[in-house]
Amino acid sequence: MNKRILVTGGTGFIGSHTTVELQQAGYDVVIVDNLSNSKADVVDGIEAITGIRPAFEEVDCTDMPALEAVFQKYAPIEGIIHFAASKAVGESVQKPLKYYRNNTVSTINLLELMPKYNVKGFIFSSSCTVYGQPDENNLPVKETTPRKDAESPYGNTKKIDEDIIVDFCKSGAPIHATLLRYFNPIGAHPSCLIGEMPNGVPANLIPYLTQTAMGIRECLSVFGDDYDTPDGSCLRDYIYVVDLANAHVAAMERILENKSEEAVEVFNVGTGNGVSVLELINTFEKCTGVKLNYKIAERRAGDIEKVWGNVDKANKVLGWHAVHTLDEALLSAWNWQKKLRERGIM
Ligand code: WQD
Repeated sequence: MNKRILVTGGTGFIGSHTTVELQQAGYDVVIVDNLSNSKADVVDGIEAITGIRPAFEEVDCTDMPALEAVFQKYAPIEGIIHFAASKAVGESVQKPLKYYRNNTVSTINLLELMPKYNVKGFIFSSSCTVYGQPDENNLPVKETTPRKDAESPYGNTKKIDEDIIVDFCKSGAPIHATLLRYFNPIGAHPSCLIGEMPNGVPANLIPYLTQTAMGIRECLSVFGDDYDTPDGSCLRDYIYVVDLANAHVAAMERILENKSEEAVEVFNVGTGNGVSVLELINTFEKCTGVKLNYKIAERRAGDIEKVWGNVDKANKVLGWHAVHTLDEALLSAWNWQKKLRERGIM
């Protein structure tokens, strides 16, 4: 029987792409998602890509009885990849209690059930946001770069969740945990059967950019060109979502093959390259041939000026590399946007 993995938030952007890669690596996947920020038909897209329909349970991870019922129904579960979380930085400032409750209680519930159901591996969807604005001499950030005070309740929940996981493992819990700190995930599966589906007006750069290119949005605002960077716009590490998904497969394999050397291992998952907003726009225009309507606007409050990752550890220890270029990732995002238009969805 294939090893079974529980993927919380599995109908979401990164969760759905990770489910595809897990299935194609031979794992049996159970998706748990409360559909608060995604749609159930993503399961159809996953099945259309892999030919395997993942089990799907519409459950909120903060609902302990309902979550435990999933563990009972699908035992034995070998590992968990925990994506389910509220993730809008701006909203977290307006509704901090929603974020602290959802993002920490869901994690605590999962950890509490693991020993009871002999679940061995826990992979947590963390974020470069825990580094805050790194000091100049700490760029690119390493896993040992000190974490900083979060810029938002959302970012703080990522730090708190990391601490909860570390303390639980330190208490002698019979589990192995891996914290994957992502940078900026972008793009869509090459099949265009799954991709990023932001609710309403996108906060993140790439969906806003492709919606502008499609004419859904009038103009893309570049939030500031007066930063201390080569062209004045912010620097980020944009990683293709399929590469990111494969980092989760590599991390789960490492745990289930008993190769992880510590109770908790931490990895940066990025390309290792810092790219500016203006560079990204130029790359998009060049690789798609689409002229983008954009303007320079005021800085966005809370934005980090520059952050990108040193990913040597993931390369060496996980044997994982981001293998796609920025061009390929942006083209996949544009193809996805065109497919949504073709289907009359957007
Ligand atoms: C990227 C750059 C903006 C929109 C987010 C999450 C963070 C983490 C990574 C999950 C910034 C600029 C954006 C626009 C713009 N994800 N921008 N015009 O802020 O780096 O972080 O993804 O953990 O938690 O918040 O991503 O895509 O919003 O912004 O100029 O319309 O694009 O200023 O420099 P960000 P983003």
